[in-house]
Amino acid sequence: MGRAFVYVILGGGVAAGYAALEFTRKGVAPGELCIISEEPVAPYERPALSKGYLLPEAPSRLPSFHTCVGANEERLSPKWYKEHGIELVLGTRVISADVRRKTLLTAAGETITFKFLIIATGARALKLEEFGVTGSDAPNVCYLRNLADANRLVDVMGSRSGGNAVVIGGGYIGMECAASLVINKMNVTMVFPEPHCMARLFSPRIAAYYEEFYKSKGVQFVKGTVLSSFDFDSDGQVTSVNLRDGTQLPADVVVVGIGIRPNTSLFEGQLTVDKGGIKTNGKMQTSNTSVYAVGDVAAFPVKLFGETRRLEHVDSARKSAIHAVASILDPQKADEFDYLPFFYSRVFAFSWQFYGDNAGDVVHFGDFSGSRIGAYWVSKGHLVGSFLEGGTKEEYDAIALATKVKPAVEDLAKLEELGLEFALAI
Ligand code: FDA
Ligand code: NAD
Repeated sequence: MGRAFVYVILGGGVAAGYAALEFTRKGVAPGELCIISEEPVAPYERPALSKGYLLPEAPSRLPSFHTCVGANEERLSPKWYKEHGIELVLGTRVISADVRRKTLLTAAGETITFKFLIIATGARALKLEEFGVTGSDAPNVCYLRNLADANRLVDVMGSRSGGNAVVIGGGYIGMECAASLVINKMNVTMVFPEPHCMARLFSPRIAAYYEEFYKSKGVQFVKGTVLSSFDFDSDGQVTSVNLRDGTQLPADVVVVGIGIRPNTSLFEGQLTVDKGGIKTNGKMQTSNTSVYAVGDVAAFPVKLFGETRRLEHVDSARKSAIHAVASILDPQKADEFDYLPFFYSRVFAFSWQFYGDNAGDVVHFGDFSGSRIGAYWVSKGHLVGSFLEGGTKEEYDAIALATKVKPAVEDLAKLEELGLEFALAI
């Protein structure tokens, strides 16, 4: 049993949706394109799962957040794929790939053949078991990567309102879920090994700004330690979380966000791997010229930094996917991907954006006792990164442009004094 397509996108997440839209814009013929996804639904905007999806009042639900609404583009419903002759093979896991023979084998036993493959397999959540702790499969322990995880979290939260929630991990999932748990009237404690939240991106001062607000909402922080074990009741539900420093925290819900691993395993030994992802050139093409990689799974050259990076954010997934399609359909015309890294988050009434790289010296600006704060990062005499909380569109555009331009910065004190004006003047 088998089918053959000109273009196959493996993975049905954010990148797949944006690639599909770009294929139709560039004129793919009906029957040429297929998307294979383990998930049972058409591509959707994954960021909604830790934000609107978890709201107690008027939560977001599909079909409202199918791609590509997150970039103010068309919402691609299952009907849209049908109308455009794009084959959506949903609820189907690919279990092996042979890039030389250009075949994929599904768990259902079907062989799907491609001329060009776009790998858009994203990533999986790291499990506590990988850190030596057992109990991840307890009914009240929640991860958050896909719709099934989000539904489980909604159910568990709903049935334990007013109870204790322990959030393991102080990164994106930890911060966004802790805010949602508070909004759902849970008593929240966050546990993470670093000295402050969002250690991969925030400076201690930025982290303190958000942590103070979380504390004002009743969130408690236990830092510098990790989980060592769970206690369970006779139904197998977690009742408390034991930390390595000896603390015991009562728990009705546990949310775990301890990082991800890119889904590269199908291609290891067949394609070059770098920075934990599948290495591509500036056209998003892997070490096999018929195979492209995009989104969380791709490690690509970031011109601005002059090095290969793997990014785990939605804007990168969208734009790398669009770039791969342009490269496949018009290889002569397609430029090298020139990407400015962009991350954002929204929690409570906060909303921040970050552009570039958080390398070098950090210079803060704004009102750290108010609602607008910001920071620049300066490395080797140039501005390389910018962060702004509570900006307007014009202000975010200004910090993005300033980061792209990489202006020389000689005097950090002057930069601090100018603050946002520095970017607005560029
Ligand atoms: P994505 O994970 O979206 O899709 C991968 C797809 O491949 C899935 O459908 C998966 O089932 C499928 N797949 C994998 N292996 C397969 C196989 N063998 N066979 C078949 N199918 C397979 N970013 C940001 O910038 N701002 C934000 O606010 C957020 N918020 C956010 C919230 C939550 C809850 C998560 C989990 C993530 C975010 N992100 C984010 C990150 C962002 O969502 C992420 O970078 C993109 O979804 C990456 O898109 P991809 O298409 O690469 O992977
Ligand atoms: P992350 O890398 O942001 O944070 C992982 C956190 O896990 C670290 O901050 C650390 O505190 C913690 N940690 C690591 N090992 C631990 C251990 N043994 N015990 C306790 N804590 C431990 O990853 P995440 O928060 O799990 O997010 C998963 C993915 O989803 C990432 O790719 C992220 O970019 C993406 N995401 C992005 C956004 C956004 O951009 N706004 C929002 C949600 C999710």
